[in-house]
Amino acid sequence: MSLPPGFLDELRNRVTLSDVIGRKVIWDQRKSNPAKGDFWAPCPFHQEKTASFHCDDRKGFYYCFGCHAKGDMISFVKETDNVSFIESVEILAREAGMEMPERTHDPRAAEKRDRQTRLADVMEMAVQAFGLAFRSGAGQGVRDYAAGRGLTPDTLKRFEIGFAPDNRTQLTAMMREKGVLEEAVATGLIIQPDDGGQPYDRFRGRLMFPIRDPRGRCIAFGGRAMNPDARAKYLNSPETELFHKSRVLYNHGPAREAAGKTQALIVAEGYMDVIALAQAGFGHAVAPLGTAITEEQLGLMWRIADEPVIALDGDRAGLQAAERLVDIALPMLAPGKSLRFCIMPEGQDPDDLIKAGGPQAMQDALDGAVPLIEMLWRRETGREALDTPERRAALDQRLKQALGRIGDAGVRNHYAADLRERRGDLFRPVERKTYAGGAGGAPSMPGRAPYRNARRGGPTRPVRETLSSDLARSGAAREADARIRESAILLIVLRHPSVLPEIEAELEGMTFLTPALSSLRDAVLDAAVEGSDPVDRAATALGEAPIAYLERVPQARVHPMARPDATPDAVLTVLQEAIHRHAALLGFEAEFGEARRDLADAEDESWSARLRHATGSRVAADGIALHTSAEGEDDTGESVFQKLLNDEVWRRSGKK
Ligand code: UTP
Ligand code: MN
Repeated sequence: MSLPPGFLDELRNRVTLSDVIGRKVIWDQRKSNPAKGDFWAPCPFHQEKTASFHCDDRKGFYYCFGCHAKGDMISFVKETDNVSFIESVEILAREAGMEMPERTHDPRAAEKRDRQTRLADVMEMAVQAFGLAFRSGAGQGVRDYAAGRGLTPDTLKRFEIGFAPDNRTQLTAMMREKGVLEEAVATGLIIQPDDGGQPYDRFRGRLMFPIRDPRGRCIAFGGRAMNPDARAKYLNSPETELFHKSRVLYNHGPAREAAGKTQALIVAEGYMDVIALAQAGFGHAVAPLGTAITEEQLGLMWRIADEPVIALDGDRAGLQAAERLVDIALPMLAPGKSLRFCIMPEGQDPDDLIKAGGPQAMQDALDGAVPLIEMLWRRETGREALDTPERRAALDQRLKQALGRIGDAGVRNHYAADLRERRGDLFRPVERKTYAGGAGGAPSMPGRAPYRNARRGGPTRPVRETLSSDLARSGAAREADARIRESAILLIVLRHPSVLPEIEAELEGMTFLTPALSSLRDAVLDAAVEGSDPVDRAATALGEAPIAYLERVPQARVHPMARPDATPDAVLTVLQEAIHRHAALLGFEAEFGEARRDLADAEDESWSARLRHATGSRVAADGIALHTSAEGEDDTGESVFQKLLNDEVWRRSGKK
């Protein structure tokens, strides 16, 4: 096929090389310089940890200093998508919104397209044949089976459910008669033994599910055995010219259409789940084809919805599949693109759940779906008790590794911040004398800070743990916590008044639980407006020297940013985060306060007893957990995590 002159130049002008390559690699943020069109990444063509693959947008070429792979955008797509030169041009042209010249000039491409059309036609014949058999006399048994599983006539039609009779030659004979035996073999419908034996039907004695691509072409079948003793309960078409199962989702087209209205997508494990979901009103459901969800399938899902909900079976295998999916998803996360996980009740899949509890039960399960980060956290904290320093260190290591796998720097930073908070909560000492000194409770063991998780021998139950710890915070402890944060923030501001103009707005928007400190803040803001000295202004309002007053809170006094030699840049960054975190914590606590009231009359006696006990004894004196260093933007999981550790170390040494 010959392309018109200038076509490729125009294509190269319209498409940016780094956009094309960026879908397949994770750029090294430190080494790359986007402003100059200069990008580095670990090479997609060979296995490596360093970034020796270079992409030069200005020249439009890439080159790997490790394996010497090189080329332009067309060769890149050709290599990574495993397509021909012209197909690669076609893919890029579609992206660029450029019309491809008539393809009839290319005999090979035309031939391939014709071949695919012929194979799809053969598949269509099979859809008809299986449908006919389903409705025939021989289909009585499967019709009863389908009805027994609650499938309505409407659903059967919508999903084109068919029947492959238990017969080795029925479909083969039909295909031979129509003169398309070779094509039928190529589609996998008919098996041609290598030893030259007679061809025979692949699907026998099975309820048949046609699998269509988003354009509506039938590209494969799934078949459920009617005989419970069959070797495989489900049998799918093999890989063929039409069907690459890792890149296909069952019910893709209809689900995409249905999702268009709801902006949601459900991902189930099996055909029957998708069908039961659709029948219950959840038309926006897809499933992989009997394998674990692949990267390609994730990519397809994200083109339909920002946060697909994964509804895997409520058994060990389903949970493991969900946990594996976390690892596949981490490198692919992007701003706004994530997953939620809907854990089905023990031993049930969506089909079972709908049968037992109707659409509402499914909706409830969907509403309870947890975000990806929660899934990651449960996986990493749930595998063993965290009752020794070594085990806690191992947890840190696992979290660090997980962070390191996140490709997008922005997403990674937010994961680091969120994990830091969870981790701080998990390892917070149970009892410690608070500065406020108010809350009493169980005596703490001298010389040893008991960790909440150390108290129970078995594996941790993170969610309940988190819940109980937050529920157990008394009003006094919450106020003491807030007072520590508020004091530290004000002390830092007064020690570094030069940052005041830049932090003014945040400071103004801040909620203070401590009335005296709220007035102090007002005085500081007034000073900023008047251009007077904030320390003097605060002293007038307070009736005593504000710095000495604030320094009576030890956690504020020892805060690294309260030191005179802290740099203004670091101070500003830390303050912004501290104020943000303060607001988040207040919101969080208000929410849990409500939950606690709801739980007060819970039936579970031991639970509420524990809660009462914990409420009396729990004292929080964790101060503000902050970055202790803020030299510029750190965007690697490594350094962010290091900060996380620093926070913890600093916080624990806060007693000194
Ligand atoms: P399940 O065993 O969970 O089946 O397999 P299911 O969807 O609940 O089916 P029913 O309710 O027993 O009819 C889930 C998916 O795994 C694949 C199929 O794609 C199936 O839909 N699978 C399962 C196979 O490919 N082969 C098998 O032998 C079993
Ligand atoms: Mn099932």
